[in-house]
Amino acid sequence: MELPAPLRQGVDSLLEKVPLPALKQAARTLSERYRAELRDGRLHMGEEMAVKAYLATRLPATYAAVRASLEALADARPDFQPKTLLDIGAGPGTMLWATTDAWPELEKAVLVEASAAVRKVGQSLAAGTIAARTEWVAGDATIDLDGLKAADLVSIAYVLDEVAPASLPKLVDRLWQLTADTLLVVEPGTPAGWQRILAARQQLIEAGAHLLAPCPHAAPCPLAPPDWCHFSRRVARSRLHRL
Ligand SMILES: C[S@@+](CC[C@H](N)C(=O)[O-])C[C@H]1O[C@@H](n2cnc3c(N)ncnc32)[C@H](O)[C@@H]1O
Repeated sequence: MELPAPLRQGVDSLLEKVPLPALKQAARTLSERYRAELRDGRLHMGEEMAVKAYLATRLPATYAAVRASLEALADARPDFQPKTLLDIGAGPGTMLWATTDAWPELEKAVLVEASAAVRKVGQSLAAGTIAARTEWVAGDATIDLDGLKAADLVSIAYVLDEVAPASLPKLVDRLWQLTADTLLVVEPGTPAGWQRILAARQQLIEAGAHLLAPCPHAAPCPLAPPDWCHFSRRVARSRLHRL
């Protein structure tokens, strides 16, 4: 899976003049924070260099995972044509790009993102290329979702692992209230990510949701730890990414 060409070009040009040693150091720090699922009150991507490290080392994989999830959704619901997207923890616009790729008729996207440094990069990548009207909203998704309107597709990808576990049920509840049609939750393919998906799944079933994918049933998951469930995708890596 490759990034859409305009996104790849935008990323390349943002990374063009960045000194490699600084980028490598930022990528190491980012990777350690993600691996440890560190929640120390700081955003992993509070600084511009951390955002650049994300573009170089993580965006290709999160894009591939998100795009594959949308494909699974389109397979399960061939009639689904979202006109509006609400993406929580939007990062550099990963879901925006993937949704536009899957449904070019998308009309409006609202992107909630806590980090100003990330919003700036996301806005500059999308400017002039994404046809849908986009609105970037600053805020903490665990407390600031009140003024938002419901959307056809509501999504949250690679974010639950950054939220305090005690805040998750309320967040999932709020996301479901904002969902006019379909809610997509994507988490890292790790045992902990799988557990968060299972917890959100159970909560949504109890709230009356109908499950589409990956398992279109509402029975308890038959897997028990140490078994766990995840999906993999091949990702094309740029020269910079390999470095
Ligand atoms: C790992 S990135 C994922 C970005 C994008 N969704 C993707 O799949 O590439 C997580 C993003 O969520 C944002 N975030 C984390 N906690 C948040 C919160 N409580 N409210 C809003 N944004 C949050 C972070 O700043 C970061 O940009």
